[in-house]
Order: sequence, then C-alpha cells, then structure tokens
Amino acid sequence: MELVGRMMDGSIPFGGGLEPSPSGPGVGDDDRVDLLETVPLFRGCSKRQLKSIAGICETYDVPAATVLTRVGEPGEEFFLIVDGTVRVDVSPRRQVRLGAGEYFGEMSLLDGEPRSASVTAESPLRLLVIRRPSFQKLLDDTPGIGRGLLVTLSRRVREAERALSSLGGH
Ligand code: CMP
Repeated sequence: MELVGRMMDGSIPFGGGLEPSPSGPGVGDDDRVDLLETVPLFRGCSKRQLKSIAGICETYDVPAATVLTRVGEPGEEFFLIVDGTVRVDVSPRRQVRLGAGEYFGEMSLLDGEPRSASVTAESPLRLLVIRRPSFQKLLDDTPGIGRGLLVTLSRRVREAERALSSLGGH
C-alpha cells in the first residue's frame, strides 16, 4: 500500500509526517490552477480544464526519504512534483532524478500492472496527487494529456535503451 492508502488507514511510516497540506501556497483551487499552468503536461489545457484538474488533485507535503512507490506493489495514485526532487530506482544500476513540473506513477494507472520502480523523496516534497478514478476520467475528458503521457513514455523508453546499450546490454 502506498502513500495515500497508508495515510487513509493510519499506518503512515514516517511519524505522521504525511498529511494533506491544510493551508499555504499551492493548496487552494486557484493556487493549484497557477501551479498546473506551469506543468508541461498540461500546457495545452484551457483555463476551464485546469480548474477541473485542480478540483481532482490533493496537495501533500512529504518529508525527505519518504518512499512514494515500491516496485512490485499495486499503484493507485499519480504524482505531480510541485517542489523538490525524487529518485526513481529504475534498476540496481540505474537511477533517474525527477524534479518540479515532472511526474511519476502514471504507468501502473495506465496498464494496471504493479509499480515498475521504487520512487523515494530526495528532499522535502510538495506533491499534487490524483487517484486512479479521477486519473481515468482526466484521460477520457482531456485527450491532450494522454498524448503528453505518451511523449514522456517514449522519451523514457529511448533513454532506457540508450542506457542499456551504453552498458553493453545490446
Ligand atoms: P509506475 O510504474 O506506476 O511507478 C513507478 C514510476 O516510476 C513509474 O510509474 C514511472 O512514473 C516512473 N519511472 C519508471 N521508469 C522510469 C524511467 N526510466 N524514467 C523515469 N521515470 C520512470
């Protein structure tokens, strides 16, 4: 079970540090629209679409070292990084860093398979989280987002292929 699930069932592993942010910048719907406007994935969205996306996101502040996804576990959330960096443990020999404006957790939501990698907070994070049912609706309602996800997936596959061939794997 992951971040939001652990928060829901009270089994949060980091001393109760994971809580929806009750106030402050980036928490109200209008703040979230401002944040979403700066995210490349949502670049083609109208103001109305951004408002509806803002309505389905939850804002979380997360301490450094929090494990947000664990490889092999089921995944129910999509994470957008507002602030901070995460480390994606793609394989024992390959790690990728993602920062503000980037996202992770889309793969399990797209194909229903377990998480492909563990993702850990390298610094304190502010995240926007979208759960599976809202994510599916978002894809249905906003085709441009599906295209954006495909572009990122293609880029990640190419990078993974390049990394493999540089290791002599091909
Ligand atoms: P998911 O499989 O749901 O959970 C782990 C996430 O790590 C995955 O979705 C992607 O968002 C991310 N991820 C996996 N592999 C890579 C990669 N090679 N580069 C960047 N991010 C990745």
